[in-house]
Amino acid sequence: MTELSQIYDLMRASPMNDWVGGSDPEKVGDACVNVLRRHVRLNGASKVLDFGCGIGRGLVSLHKAGVRPTKIVGMDIMPPVIEFCEQNIAPTVPNTTFELIEGMNDHYDRFIDERDRASHDDLRKKYQGYFTDGYAFSVFTHVTQDDFQKLLDFVSSMMKPGGRFLFTCFELNAFSRHMVLSGQSMFPLDRQRMMDAQDVFIANADDPLSFIAFDADLIRDMVWKAGMTITRVSYGCWMGGGIGESLQDVIVCTKLPELKKIDDVEMTPLVRREPDRPMTPPWPKRLRRYLKRRLG
Ligand SMILES: C[S@@+](CC[C@H](N)C(=O)[O-])C[C@H]1O[C@@H](n2cnc3c(N)ncnc32)[C@H](O)[C@@H]1O
Repeated sequence: MTELSQIYDLMRASPMNDWVGGSDPEKVGDACVNVLRRHVRLNGASKVLDFGCGIGRGLVSLHKAGVRPTKIVGMDIMPPVIEFCEQNIAPTVPNTTFELIEGMNDHYDRFIDERDRASHDDLRKKYQGYFTDGYAFSVFTHVTQDDFQKLLDFVSSMMKPGGRFLFTCFELNAFSRHMVLSGQSMFPLDRQRMMDAQDVFIANADDPLSFIAFDADLIRDMVWKAGMTITRVSYGCWMGGGIGESLQDVIVCTKLPELKKIDDVEMTPLVRREPDRPMTPPWPKRLRRYLKRRLG
């Protein structure tokens, strides 16, 4: 069994570390886990999806932080990174498996060879409604608008109703557009390109998926179409101005929960201001009846 420090050393020594960003893998992994733990509650019963896991920086740091889910599945489209994870991480980090999955990505296709990869349909069948929690760090910062939707649909199909999925991205909103246009962003982003951008901003025309940002309404819409809803947002500091706890924006989605029968819905109890006067029928009952009529 390999020590975790040895796994990080293997990552540092591998050219694959450059493919996933090039920074120190332990520092990046730890930072991802800090973000994850701030927003998603993991415990021994969690079944966790690491979507676009790369060389497994997040997974290893999760184990290092003492998080012991019942299952962690790492998925990625690049055969060499999945081989690395299978050889170096699976034997050391318990309950961990990896899936090499289908998918094209102009930014990563040069690392993809002819190895058989599992189709989204097969994986949908295998993991339908399985994961209680999931995350994708620096994946939705490198995909086309088309793939953004397809990948959210795919991930959502594997999430349990009520489950949480956290992903990072670059969100275009009034503030981030203003900051980029004012030359404040932490990357050298072209102001004219931002001026011309509508729902999608591509920083580099020669490598469009090296940095891609999407409008807030578009992201919200895609998440909803995938059967999830955004339940938390924590902005990063990529646009400058010193706000944010991380570099990229963090979006937490909840897979739509199963709906309860109207009579089983717990209502906020109301305070009775006049204790002697019976409230007939009590407001919550009237409210229930009204909702029942409206919603069935
Ligand atoms: C910048 S790396 C981040 C890796 C990892 N999440 C981390 O933080 O260490 C982006 C990863 O997304 C993966 N990726 C890109 N397109 C994908 C897709 N369509 N489906 C699944 N993974 C994808 C890439 O292969 C790459 O490993």
